[in-house]
Formats: sequence, C-alpha cells, structure tokens
Amino acid sequence: MPNMICIGHRGACGYAPENTLAAFELAITMGCPWLELDVYAVEGELLVIHDDTLERTTNGKGQVMQTPLATLRSLDAGNGQQIPTLKEVIELVDHRAGINIELKGPHTAAPVCQLLHDYLAQGWRSDEFMLSSFDHQELALADPLFRRGALFHRAKKDYLARADRLGAYSLNLAIKLVTPELVQAAHGHGLQVLVYTVNEAADIQRMRDYGVDGIFCNYPDRVLPAQPQ
Ligand code: G3P
Ligand code: MG
Repeated sequence: MPNMICIGHRGACGYAPENTLAAFELAITMGCPWLELDVYAVEGELLVIHDDTLERTTNGKGQVMQTPLATLRSLDAGNGQQIPTLKEVIELVDHRAGINIELKGPHTAAPVCQLLHDYLAQGWRSDEFMLSSFDHQELALADPLFRRGALFHRAKKDYLARADRLGAYSLNLAIKLVTPELVQAAHGHGLQVLVYTVNEAADIQRMRDYGVDGIFCNYPDRVLPAQPQ
C-alpha cells in the first residue's frame, strides 16, 4: 500500500488551540511531514486564523478584517497563544515540515506569494509550500511556481477540468466527496488526492484503502507511528 501522508490540520488542532504556534509545534513533534493553516490579510500582515470572525477561536469579538491588527495581535487564541503571523509560523517550522497555506481571506494570493519569495531568497524551496483555496479565482492569482491544491467541498462533475484550468497539483477534497473511482481518475490525470478532515480510525483506514495521498487530520498520532522520544 503506498504511503499516505498526514497533514496536521490547523496544526494538531485536536490537542492544542487551532492555528497557533503551539498546535504547529505539536504536529511537528508528532511527526507530520506537512501542516495546514488558513490565512487572512489585515493591514498588510498575513494572519493565521480560520474563521472570518473572532468569537469561536479567540477572546475577541467581530470580524477579523474589520479589527485593527494591533487588537488582533493582543487577543488570546487559546492557552495564552497569539493569533500568529504567517511569518512566525514559517520561522517556527524552519524546514521541519511542508506548509499548506490555505488562502481563506480575499486578496491573499499576492501577499502570500510575495512573502514566500522572500523565503525562497533565504534558501527555502518552492516545494516546501503548497497553496490551496476554495476560491479558485484567488488561487489562480498565485505564482504558478508554487503547488496549487484545488479545494472542493461540494460535488462537481468536472473536478479534473477545474484542476486543469488551475494547473493544480492536487485535488483537496472533503471526505464525503471521495470515492475510489474519483481517486483513480485523479491519479490517472497526474493529480494527488488530499482529503479533509479525516479523524476517525475507520475513515483513516478507508482513505488508505482508496489509495489517497494524504489526509488532513486534527489528531496526527492516530495516523502516524509513535515518534522516538
Ligand atoms: O485545507 C483543508 C481544510 O482545511 C479545508 O477546510 O474549513 O478546515 O479550512 P477548512
Ligand atoms: Mg483550512
């Protein structure tokens, strides 16, 4: 059976506050070769947070993009963690894992690519990053040097054509959309198949059986062998 990689979803967010440095460090410690995170652009800074509102994951209130950057950075994102900047996450990761940056906020493709180019100049490789988005128009604005993951949460008749139009590296599919036939078709088309969010043992096994290439998981230790201490 080919190897199925584990992508720490918002870090190891089943065990630490999602999209925080603590969650990313834990996912790396658990052996994840890749991490996934969500970004918004606020006042020229790229911030790592999932929702467009603050209530669920922080002690703040209101819309992320209507809140001053200084206020966002003063909030508690869980266990005293700050909402991290993308730069902070990249510096923390320091080549220990690949980083899948999901473009969640509008107008994020250009500033993310600009930042990644700064890291390429410092010796990072382009294949240490992957960009993904449900907003395929935004994703299409990203520098094609970086791998593109075409995210889908609804069934489509033409996944492959949509992926082709994007020059995608992978189909990033909600688990409810995944069938063995779709996995085969994607592979036949030269696309990787990455599936979110796969947390339950039976689903993890089913995705292995289907031959998917990777799963986004909140509990990486359910997928990965125990790491040496
Ligand atoms: O990128 C996979 C997954 O993160 C997409 O959904 O809502 O968890 O960002 P969401
Ligand atoms: Mg995401």
